[in-house]
Amino acid sequence: MCAAFAVYSAVVYTSGTETPHLEPISEPARAGQQVFQEYNCIACHQFYGLGGYMGPDLTNVISKRGPIYARAFIASGSARMPNFKLSEPEISALIEYLTFVDGTGSYPPENYQVNWYGTVVQEDDPQ
Ligand code: HEC
Repeated sequence: MCAAFAVYSAVVYTSGTETPHLEPISEPARAGQQVFQEYNCIACHQFYGLGGYMGPDLTNVISKRGPIYARAFIASGSARMPNFKLSEPEISALIEYLTFVDGTGSYPPENYQVNWYGTVVQEDDPQ
């Protein structure tokens, strides 16, 4: 049992994937994160599937829909999303933040492989 544990640990710790190299968050994106938290966007939206479920997941909204589309939604709201009457700098900061989040990965994962020892490798992850 102990030997099996030792062998398993050795395999898991030596054949794991590289830690993804992520850019640190920029100042404008950090400002956008603050706006995102202040208006509690996560109450209705999700990142990586986590959050409230009234609105869509925003992890990849920038690459899937584009910054102009996202900006229009944030500036005007819709029948189901409130218009927060945000200022132009707040909206730009939010777009910076959503662009940063978009660069951290993709959700839902489309290409992934589950290894026999239990780890999951997402093949379309930016490394
Ligand atoms: C009360 C719930 C609610 C809150 C709070 C909210 N939203 Fe939304 N949001 C929605 C809903 C619902 C939709 C989809 C609306 C539709 O399709 O008409 C949406 C759509 C969007 C979209 C377009 C997404 C897409 O894929 O079509 C963006 C971008 C967005 N919201 C950003 C934000 C940001 C940024 C905040 C915080 C400032 C925020 N939302 C706060 C409910 C909310």
